[in-house]
Amino acid sequence: MEIYKNPSYSPRERTIDLLSRMTIEEKAGQMCQVDGRHDPETWIYKKHIGSFLHVTGDEPARLQKMALETRLGIPILFGIDAIHGHAFQSGATVFPSQLGMSSSWNPELLEKVAAITACEVILTGLHWTFSPVLCIGRDARWGRVDETFGEDPYLIGVLAKAMIQGYQGDQLSDPYSILACAKHFAAYGETQGGRDSSESDVSERKLRSIFLPPFQEAVKAGCATFMAGYNAIDGVPCSANQWLLHDVLKEEWGFQGFVVTDWDNIGHLHEDHKVAATLEEACTIALTAGNDMMMSTPTFYEHALSLIEKGIISESLLDDACSRILELKFKLGLFDHKRFPDQGMVSTILGCPEHRKIAYDMALESMVLLKNQNNILPLSKEIKRIALIGPNCDDVQAQLGDWSFGARELAYPEVPTLNYHPEYDPSPIVTILEGIKNRCPHHVQIAYEKGCDLLDENNHNIEEAVETALASDAIIAVVGDTNVLNGEMRDRADLHLTGTQQKLLEALKVTGKPLIIVLVNGKPLTIPWIAENADAILEAWNPGMEGGNGVASILFGDFNPCGKLTVSFPRHVGQQPVFYNQLPGWHGNAYVEMTGEPLFPFGFGLSYTQYEYSNLMVSSSSLGVNDHLTVSVDVQNTGKYEGTEIVQLYINDIFSSVTTPIKELKGFQRIHLKPGEKSAVHITVPVASLGLVNRKCQYVVEPGVFEIMVGPSSRDMDLLKTIVEVVA
Ligand code: NOJ
Repeated sequence: MEIYKNPSYSPRERTIDLLSRMTIEEKAGQMCQVDGRHDPETWIYKKHIGSFLHVTGDEPARLQKMALETRLGIPILFGIDAIHGHAFQSGATVFPSQLGMSSSWNPELLEKVAAITACEVILTGLHWTFSPVLCIGRDARWGRVDETFGEDPYLIGVLAKAMIQGYQGDQLSDPYSILACAKHFAAYGETQGGRDSSESDVSERKLRSIFLPPFQEAVKAGCATFMAGYNAIDGVPCSANQWLLHDVLKEEWGFQGFVVTDWDNIGHLHEDHKVAATLEEACTIALTAGNDMMMSTPTFYEHALSLIEKGIISESLLDDACSRILELKFKLGLFDHKRFPDQGMVSTILGCPEHRKIAYDMALESMVLLKNQNNILPLSKEIKRIALIGPNCDDVQAQLGDWSFGARELAYPEVPTLNYHPEYDPSPIVTILEGIKNRCPHHVQIAYEKGCDLLDENNHNIEEAVETALASDAIIAVVGDTNVLNGEMRDRADLHLTGTQQKLLEALKVTGKPLIIVLVNGKPLTIPWIAENADAILEAWNPGMEGGNGVASILFGDFNPCGKLTVSFPRHVGQQPVFYNQLPGWHGNAYVEMTGEPLFPFGFGLSYTQYEYSNLMVSSSSLGVNDHLTVSVDVQNTGKYEGTEIVQLYINDIFSSVTTPIKELKGFQRIHLKPGEKSAVHITVPVASLGLVNRKCQYVVEPGVFEIMVGPSSRDMDLLKTIVEVVA
């Protein structure tokens, strides 16, 4: 038996053996990834394809069988955007959006979400998810903020690790492991004006300070693949950036996996970024820069062959890329147990009650209570008639969010759409209307009016909505945004409520009835009117298939909300970006028209109970660079409900050789407290994590005094403060 077919050899030995048998054509094909819904046979038989994306249903098994019958029988790696559940697959479990999930600050739960996703992906015959997204989401105008973990690099790193662990398990050979993909490398969320895929005007120092750390954490967590961003950094498109992909990622950080381009990044080098005069030149640039797999640039195959023939690139570039790809295929066991889909298990496991339970738990933990005047929530037992009003009460798309059924990515006119048949979908999506109807006590009547369309200003029935509201004891208004206002190429110049939602809310306010607002939206919106006029605000994000049950449980008091914002809410779009970890400046923090403070800051989130913080202490007021700092604080639940509090630790390097953020999150801890209960919370951080990137772009901890801040949010008034000194 050939060495590469023999499982008793290591993945590395098998890779070397297989590579020695491959022709240049087979190597070039191995590096290609195309949409498998378009002429897959030619790609398998004539071009030795390495990977397909966006193939579902019975297709993966059919195509894999073909691949295994080819000369060398190299299995295909199937990729999919399962970024908040296997959400393109009919019947699968759909979790809240990544931004929603980040608001839980709960890595353990995220790991479970990712493990469930991996299990559902594997059962359908796929092997690789393009997740997690590690972009910093700090300009809400950008269309893809809903896909991020928010604005803080430290928190993103912690949550990324959890998701990678959930997807990949302890080792890739575990039967339910899939490959994770850290994307989009790098600074893709920082494009100017929030304009998708434009220039990220950041220096190396800024990259190393803010944008690269979460990706470095992903490498440490063993993330198998990386995706290069669409954007350019300081004039160099990511897929042309040898420093980024090769020098930093592969050499400095020792990344062993492979880099995939984003969708036709090579074509963009020529057509959009215009750093290559021809597609062939673009291929040379991409190959030399360190991209290993080329997503959706079908002509790469021919160009690579011609470049080798002309002697422009050396075959060793292809060898390195193929080794990285093949080794992961061996590690996944694709050559051995093949991972064919298991149709029997698909129908019983996808969206099963155990998986939905985690979707429900995640929906609960991802919701953030932004206002609760006079403790109007949870709903009092006196309330007998509820008016449920708004365009997002009963909207499946808005609730599931982007990268789920109906997402734009599925609708390629020339190829069949993915496998979503709502009429056969065995896992019904519980909308907020359904969730509230299911949960509300018998004596409570629910009257529902849509009130207005989310987009069409001419389509509303505000008068009927007002009448319904007048006949109620309280209004629950569910407003926000929907998929066409989020996603790739869907940046917004404005962040206000669209359609006639604002008019609807103002008319409801005039009724004088208690106004409880539930927001179902991909990302922060500018809602100063709501902040002032609503009695309560619950931010539900895109809460996934169990979102309706989650909202109902929180409104009726079955669950005490505990989510905290991972992204700041601007008061006005002109404040963008309004992230909490700003660099200090001389002219203060105010515009002519308004404050520079956000409407709701990073880390903010209320509860049905109250927590009191006291007795902040540090393990030592003087520490060496190799020491650990333990910060302790007492937290007491002084209210009536038991609940979970997320205790946050921020630092500030008071004087440093370069400007450093006014606050930086360095640790957090979740604690669960019964009414009256008091607990000491200890958060330990290595002093080595208090560093900065100096002018030479080196990471260093500079001796001096650091401010230590602990509390329930990043807002100054919420924080207890002390200082420590770091000595040389
Ligand atoms: C483009 C998106 O930017 C990326 O996030 C996604 O994974 C790929 N398309 C594949 O769908």
